Amino acid sequence: MSTQLSSEVKRVTTHTIQELKNRGEKISALTAYDYSMARIVDAAGIDLILVGDSASNVIAGHETTLPITLDQMIYHAQAVVRGVKRALVVVDLPFGTYQGNSEEALRSAIRIMKESGAHAVKMEGGLEIKESITRILSAGVPVMGHLGLTPQSIYKFGTYTVRAKEETEAQKLMEDAKMLDEVGCFAMVLEKIPAALTQQVSKNVGIPTVGIGAGPHADGQILVLHDMLGINKEFKPRFLRRYADLHTAMTDAISNYVKDVKANDFPNEKESY
Ligand code: KIV
Repeated sequence: MSTQLSSEVKRVTTHTIQELKNRGEKISALTAYDYSMARIVDAAGIDLILVGDSASNVIAGHETTLPITLDQMIYHAQAVVRGVKRALVVVDLPFGTYQGNSEEALRSAIRIMKESGAHAVKMEGGLEIKESITRILSAGVPVMGHLGLTPQSIYKFGTYTVRAKEETEAQKLMEDAKMLDEVGCFAMVLEKIPAALTQQVSKNVGIPTVGIGAGPHADGQILVLHDMLGINKEFKPRFLRRYADLHTAMTDAISNYVKDVKANDFPNEKESY
């Protein structure tokens, strides 16, 4: 089901995302954190935009996603929502705003929905956070789950290596995935797990799976925008395909500008009033 909000644009809804899985069409997803980038990503035809807490890394320069606050996520989400006409906008609930207490979880989700105008929230974890997930869902807020590598738990795991390679962890992930499906999440991210496990999960749950470093069998794929655009040269995981080399393009543009200013070649007569 798509909602017709204007004569031209059919908005992607959580129902559209489910329909894509039902008819075997892959879901395309990317992150965005600001108005200008979100406009470009949306106009290029993406189905789902995640205002990820990876903003903590790629925008704020932190080593982990833990420091970003709810106010900061809302600020990013507001900017993204202003730039988007078609895509479904999902916002990460940041670390510490939902794990311990379902009442606080609901308050956090409601703040995101009310103050940003986004369409859904994403939460990392399985059975441990079931109560928070169901409470948010019961308020009518769509929830996207996130299993596998969950960066908010980095200090528990100690590394960013592939998860659920062992049978017990794979079984737990499958149980968590079934729970997310049963309680009514509309989709789930599967991050950095073996491709065969992604295939099994995607077959065994009704809701769409969206993979990152999880192989080709997920119902959709997501990447961090700055990584796939090649803005960050140092980050080179095996799963990342770079679709541009913006680091080089931007460095060249900026150094040419510096050269022109120093040579008094910019602005020229045509560029002056
Ligand atoms: O925060 C984020 O960007 C994410 C994606 C990697 C799925 O959670």
